This record gives sequence, structure tokens and C-alpha cells, in this order.
Amino acid sequence: MKDRVIIFDTTLRDGEQCPGASLNPLQKLEVARQLDRLGVDVIEAGFAVSSPGDFEGVKLIAGQVKRPVIASLARSVPKDIEAAGRALKPAKRRRIHTFVATSEIHMKHKLRKAEDEILRLAAAAVKLARRFTDDVEFSPEDAARTRPEFLFRVLEAVIDAGATTVNIPDTVGWAIPSQFGELIRAIRENVPNIDRAVISVHCHNDLGLSTANSLAAVANGARQVECTVNGIGERAGNASLEEVVMGLTVRKDLFGVTTAIRTEEICRASRLVSKLTGFLVQPNKAIVGGNAFAHESGIHQDGVLKFRKTYEIMHPRDVGYGESKLVLGKHSGRHAFLERLKALGFRVSERQLVSAFERFKALADRKKEVFDDDLAALVEDEISEVPPRYLLEYLHVVSGTGVVPSATVRLKTSEGKILEDSASGDGPVDACYNAMDRLTGFKGKLADYIIQSVTSGKDAMGEVTVKVASQGRVEHGRAASTDIIEASSKAYLNAVNRLLHGVKRRG
Ligand code: KIV
Ligand code: ZN
Repeated sequence: MKDRVIIFDTTLRDGEQCPGASLNPLQKLEVARQLDRLGVDVIEAGFAVSSPGDFEGVKLIAGQVKRPVIASLARSVPKDIEAAGRALKPAKRRRIHTFVATSEIHMKHKLRKAEDEILRLAAAAVKLARRFTDDVEFSPEDAARTRPEFLFRVLEAVIDAGATTVNIPDTVGWAIPSQFGELIRAIRENVPNIDRAVISVHCHNDLGLSTANSLAAVANGARQVECTVNGIGERAGNASLEEVVMGLTVRKDLFGVTTAIRTEEICRASRLVSKLTGFLVQPNKAIVGGNAFAHESGIHQDGVLKFRKTYEIMHPRDVGYGESKLVLGKHSGRHAFLERLKALGFRVSERQLVSAFERFKALADRKKEVFDDDLAALVEDEISEVPPRYLLEYLHVVSGTGVVPSATVRLKTSEGKILEDSASGDGPVDACYNAMDRLTGFKGKLADYIIQSVTSGKDAMGEVTVKVASQGRVEHGRAASTDIIEASSKAYLNAVNRLLHGVKRRG
């Protein structure tokens, strides 16, 4: 059996599917480029038929990211498969990933179809997908709860029809590692043509077992794992890429397999996905959490100082975790700025460079030292946002003890119109938000507000992430500044712009 595990990243499809995490096509491309640097084998770029935004995202990534295989999801129906085929056309290496549910509960209550019909649909979908590409993956949705004998029949039929990868999803996070591992073993023993396909797994985290189930599957012969950066995804999420990869890497003694992941790119990928989706990483998250390598207990600190491996099973450097480096100051020129951006992996157009450099200069005036993380916070805002309907032009806030906080806000519309109004509020941030709501006519609810410092020190930039809800939709906004009222206002306006832009929703 091969000792190489294929890493199939579905951050941009299953990950992006969770409420409030939606990304525009440019943001998806930014994530895809980082996944490419990270070394993933397959990028599932979206579900092409589900919305024009998804179609656009898949097509854009297929045209721009050439090393990994680019995949699109498709139900086992012709219109989905044809849309996936069209969106993937520009790709150098393309995969259609088609699925239909096979568990009794899904077939009876959701699809209202009998086993034989499902079997026929699955094989027909794979045959049709093979007209667009030789690389076809089939998923029997809810496989972990599917009657094993039926699952074996479906897998045999789709492999005969031309599937080159068969993926076993634990769609509802129901499986337990020993049982899931056994299922993979049983598939290897009971599907006669299984040697013609790669066995993949796709585990959800409803019981917190998605990584454990994925690793148990690898131990039993699975050679592709589907996962997402930071474990984002439907409900409790998907298996997290960083946990699966570091599990296989750190315990190579046990699994005896390798991946092609450049693990030192993990933290950057985690940070980018967190920023663009607005899903913050919990401090105690394995591998990428802020405390993942922090030693608080005196005994542990003493041990680590004497010999690191006493309390660390991997080196922070191995996953790109480390101090944010001091890079630039106010005397740094445009050339040094651009070189640093390139080293950080950013690609910017001339227009983005001019704007980002201006913002960098303003920041360097206020902040003595500018770190890599500051630069990333500045530039990520520039490169992947949809054109905003409103821009913050001016802000004046009055606040203090015994004073009713008030704010005067001036916005510029995308047509160049200037709007100005004032409002009071419970605090300075509330006053700004009220003034902006009056100007934009936006009616929504602030669902979440989080502030963090980008680096350390009194002059650190504050980074604000908000979630704003309106008419059943939730969008996030994010902005960083040394002035936290400004950061709060820009983050809110960013979310409002996204809501007004009508970022796609799935049907
Ligand atoms: O969880 C699931 O079953 C899926 C399939 C479409 C692979 O996401
Ligand atoms: Zn899933």
C-alpha cells in the first residue's frame, strides 16, 4: 500500500458553507494561493452550481492556481456535473466530486428514493463526470450510517463506472474511531475492485472526533483525507488540516505515512482563513491556537528551558508559529515594503501597492515599529475586498466620564457622494454605529464584536472583528488600526458593505 496520504482541502467548499464564513471570489483565490504554498494536493474550490459566486470562485481558482488538482462538488444530477465541468475548464488538473446520500435515513426521508435508484444515479453521475475529466471522486453521503452491504455495492458500481477516488463521509460526525477504522478495513475487504480507487475520508466534528476518525481511517488504509484549515465547516466543523497533518507527521512512527504539506506554512494559512472568514481561532486550539506552545506552569517552563522536548512534541517553528518579526519603520521605502510583502507571499497590483504603502506610512508615523503581522493586517484588507459601497472619510467622537458619547461620521459613496451625520450612543463605538446606520439606512443587528491586538505593546494595532446580521444573513467585517474606534467603525462598515453587496447564499 502507498505510504503517501493525499491532503484534500475543502476549506473553500465545506468550510465556507458555515453561516457567516462566506468569501468573495477574490478572497477565495487568496486562500487558494496559500493552500498552494502549503502544499495541499487537492483544493475543493466550491460547489459550482450552487450560486454564481461559487461558480466564479471555482473558475477563477481553476484559471490561476496551477499546481494542485482543483475540484468542484456536484450532486449526482446532470446540471450540477455540467456546471462543475464548465467552471473547471481552465484548470490544468481538474476533479469532479459527485455525491448522493446512501444511508436509509437520507434515502427515505430526504431523497425519497429506493436503493436501486440511488445505485443507478450514482453510476450515471460518475459516467457523465468522466466525460469532463479522468479524475472523478464519488461520495456516498452519510456513509458512516449507511448499511455496509449497500455501501459496498455502491462503491463497486461507481468504481466500475470510472470513479478514481471513493470518499467515505461521516456527514453528521456520528462515528467513533475504532468503528470508523473497521469500516475502512471492511471496504478494503468487501469491495472487489477497490484496488482501482483511492479510499478517502471526510469526517465532521459533531462529537469532537473528526481528527481521531480520520487518523483511524488512515491506519486502516485510507489514503486521502478531506479537511479544512482551522477545522471550519458545517455545524461543529470538519477535520482540521493542521491536526490531521501534524498527527500523521509527529506520529510517523505509528502511521508510517507522509504528506506533501509544508508544515511551516500552517500558521499563515490558519491566520489568513481566520481573518477572511471572521472565525477566530480559540486560544487552546491544537497546533494553531495562541496558547498551543505557551508554557505557564513553572515546572513546564523549567523543563522546556533545560530540554525543549520534555514538554513539546513538535517545534513551534515546524508549523510556522513564532514571534512576529520586526520588519519596517517610518523610513522604509516603497521598495523595501514591496519586497517584504512578496516575502510574506502577497501579490499586489500597482493600485493596491500605492494604497497599502500610504496606509503603511500613516501607521509607521503612529507606531514606531511595524511587524510582519501589522503588514499582513494592512494588506489583507486591500487585496480581496469587494468594491465597497461606503467608505469612511472622517470620524469625530466625543466621549468621557459624565458625557453622552456622540459621533460625527462622514462617508463617501461609490458614486462619490459625501454623506455626513451625527448620533449619540451608549458608548463611542455605539455612537459611530448609530451615525453610520442613519447614513446608510442599514437596519441590522450587531451579532458579535471582538477586539484583539495585532502585536504587543501600547502602540499595537487593535484588530476588530464584527458579525452583523440582517434579514436572516450574517456577514463579518474586520479592520485594524492603532485607533480602536476607527478600527471598530471600519469593521462595521465592512460588514454592512458585504451585506449590501448581496454576497451569495446557497439555495
Ligand atoms: O459531509 C458530507 O457528506 C459532504 C459530502 C458532500 C462529501 O460534505
Ligand atoms: Zn461535509
